[in-house]
Amino acid sequence: MPSTAIIGLQWGDEGKGKVIDCLAAEADLVVRYAGGNNAGHTVVVDGEKYVLHLIPGGILHDHALNLIGRGVVVNLEHLAQEVDGLLSRGVPVLDRLRLDSRCHLIFPFHLHLDRLAETWKGEGRIGTTGRGIGPAYADRVARTGIRLGDVLNEKHFETRLQAALAEKNAMISKVYGQEPESHDRLFEESRALARRFQPLVVDGGEWVREQYGQGKKVLFEGAQGSMLDLDAGTYPFVTSSWTGTWGIAGGTGMPPKHLDRALGVAKAYCTRVGEGPMLTELLDATGERLRKQGNEYGATTGRPRRCGWFDAVAARYAVELNGLDGLVLSNLDVLSGFEEIRVAVAYRWEDRETRSFPVEVGSDPAWEPVWKTFPGWQEDITGARSFSELPSTTQDYLRFLEAELHVPIQRVSVGPSRDQMFVGENGQQDLWA
Ligand code: IMP
Repeated sequence: MPSTAIIGLQWGDEGKGKVIDCLAAEADLVVRYAGGNNAGHTVVVDGEKYVLHLIPGGILHDHALNLIGRGVVVNLEHLAQEVDGLLSRGVPVLDRLRLDSRCHLIFPFHLHLDRLAETWKGEGRIGTTGRGIGPAYADRVARTGIRLGDVLNEKHFETRLQAALAEKNAMISKVYGQEPESHDRLFEESRALARRFQPLVVDGGEWVREQYGQGKKVLFEGAQGSMLDLDAGTYPFVTSSWTGTWGIAGGTGMPPKHLDRALGVAKAYCTRVGEGPMLTELLDATGERLRKQGNEYGATTGRPRRCGWFDAVAARYAVELNGLDGLVLSNLDVLSGFEEIRVAVAYRWEDRETRSFPVEVGSDPAWEPVWKTFPGWQEDITGARSFSELPSTTQDYLRFLEAELHVPIQRVSVGPSRDQMFVGENGQQDLWA
């Protein structure tokens, strides 16, 4: 199996970082295809914690190359900080990283506009990460964006930046009444940063196609989650990119027929940061307990995450949309100690009941979960290293999820370390086979 994708099935923060890190141990190339530094992938290696926002998870392995694909929006200042942070910890990032010259860039005015737009929306705000993601993607679609390759061409950049700034500064000063941004400083700083990364810049699509053609193992690294997808998610409370398998071809330049396998990552319960519908959210002591036990605070913004029981309606939808071959269930250990555990198996609204994810769930809050309740388990399962070492109630929970989602659980994760993950009852030993 030369190419595999790792996709988030919920609202992001499913624990993709660790799964990517584990699969990257055998990958030749790890490719990010969407999002920007709104993501936060946490990996623990030998007790040391790394939080990657923009750089793909293969960076911690000495044999893997990593590509930031053209679908990723790149804040060069942030990239420099992330690179320097890893360099200072002895990770030879510059030998292992490549950047697609078609990546659109995030400039300070995008951050500024992201925050101003959120304030402007008031009650209707999305709860963005404030990293300029939406405005940068909006410019890409409006054909006013500036790509990494554009900055490397001095004259071209000058023209593009002047045009962009004329429009953005009019918006910042005339609509929002704020100070406009300086052209000269932005020009110089962006040029200096782009030149620093110039040796890493490639035609990413061509490179991935070549590597795949040579039989190399390519891992596509998803960011955010399927329910935050621009089109498939709970619009408008979504991010501005295609987070699922459908985003891979567009975000890398690899033809869709070369995606050989897709695995989805889901937590054993649900979390969400930012605004928008989450039907299984628990606003009571149980939700608070999940947040505490799962240490559910955002890796990027530090915001407390909204917590609730597993939503099988949303997960089934995401499994189908992505065409998944398997599931990785993370944070199972967090459910230890609960008297009972619930799963939403359908949604009900007056006399209507559905097992499909309703389009209008984003605008009509009247849907309520239909629960199935399971007995909990009291044992600490963080030391389990195989399915058979799990309590029988835990095994029943996993079997139920597998049947409900119609997909084998390939891996079960019971803690943050690399070794706290094992093959599911119906999983295959070698995920690259
Ligand atoms: P944006 O991507 O910053 O525009 O934010 C849009 C929505 O996606 C907000 O609800 C964010 O909280 C959410 N979001 C973006 N990135 C992540 C992530 O990596 N994990 C979880 N939520 C995210």
